[in-house]
Amino acid sequence: MAGEGFAILRQAGISVETSLAEAEARPDLAGFLYRITKKRPYVILKLALSSDGKIAEVPRQRTTITGSEVKKRTHLMRAQSDAILVGLGTVFADDPDLTCRLPGLEDRSPVRVVADSRLAIPRTSHLAQTAGKVPVWLLSLADGAIAPGVEVLRCNQGPDGHVDPNDAMRRLARRGINRVLAEGGARLARGLIEAGLVDELSLFRSPKALGPQGVDGFAGLPFASVMAAFRPAGEERLGDDRLSVYVRP
Ligand SMILES: NC(=O)c1ccc[n+]([C@@H]2O[C@H](COP(=O)([O-])OP(=O)(O)OC[C@H]3O[C@@H](n4cnc5c(N)ncnc54)[C@H](OP(=O)(O)O)[C@@H]3O)[C@@H](O)[C@H]2O)c1
Repeated sequence: MAGEGFAILRQAGISVETSLAEAEARPDLAGFLYRITKKRPYVILKLALSSDGKIAEVPRQRTTITGSEVKKRTHLMRAQSDAILVGLGTVFADDPDLTCRLPGLEDRSPVRVVADSRLAIPRTSHLAQTAGKVPVWLLSLADGAIAPGVEVLRCNQGPDGHVDPNDAMRRLARRGINRVLAEGGARLARGLIEAGLVDELSLFRSPKALGPQGVDGFAGLPFASVMAAFRPAGEERLGDDRLSVYVRP
C-alpha cells in the first residue's frame, strides 16, 4: 500500500494500523512488490543439480537427475508462479511440457515462456503443439507467427546478441507477471544471474554424480562465485534428494 487507501479509510473514521506482520507478509507479496517497485517480476531460478554440479549428462540431452518427490515439488512451484521460463536449448534438448500435473491443480499451469531470440522453436515441440490449451510466450528479437496460442513478445537485444534479460523481465511485468519460475538451462541461468535478476535460487541436489563430461549448471560461471551473491534460506530433504533455497542477503 502506498498510503492513499489508508487516508481514505481514516477519513471515513476507520482505524488503520500499519506494518503488522510485515516480515511474514513480505516474502508472500514479493512478486507483487517487485512488479510495482522495480517494474520487474520476482525471479526464482530452479535447477536440479548432480552432486558434482551438473544439470545434464551430456550437452543437448535430457537427463533425469532427481526423484519423484522433487517432481511433485516442482509442479507445486509451477502452480505458485505466474510464468515458467526456459531457454531455447532446453526446448530442443528436453521438449518439455512445463505444466502443473499435480492432481487437483492441473488447471493452475501458468503461461510458459521461452527465451528464443530468433523464433527458432520447433512447430512440432510440445510447447507449440499445446499452446492452444496453456499459452506460450516467446521472448524474441523477431516477429512472426508460430502456432495458435503462441504469442511473441518483442524484446531489445542484449550485448551478447540474445534477448536482453532486463528488458524481457520488464515486458513480463507489464503483462502482469509477478513471479517467474526460471527452470534453466545453463545458459539462460547464467544470463539471468549475470544480469542480477535471480532473487531466489532453489537447488534440488541429487546424491548422484554425472561426471566431468556433464553440462555445468551455470554454463561456466564458477559455482562459488554464483553462491557468493546469496545466503542460505532453507534446507529440506525430498526422498534421496535435498532442496537448498538461497535468497539475496
Ligand atoms: N537439471 C536441470 O534443472 C535442467 C533444467 C533445464 C535444462 N536442463 C538441461 O540443460 C541443457 C540446455 O541448456 P543450454 O544451456 O544448452 O540451453 P538453455 O539455457 O535452455 O537455452 C539457451 C538459449 O536460450 C536463448 N536465449 C535467449 N536469450 C537468452 C539470454 N539472455 N541468455 C541466455 N540464453 C538466451 C539462446 O538462444 P537464442 O539467442 O538463439 O534464442 C540460447 O542459446 C539441456 O541438456 C537440458 O536437458 C537441465
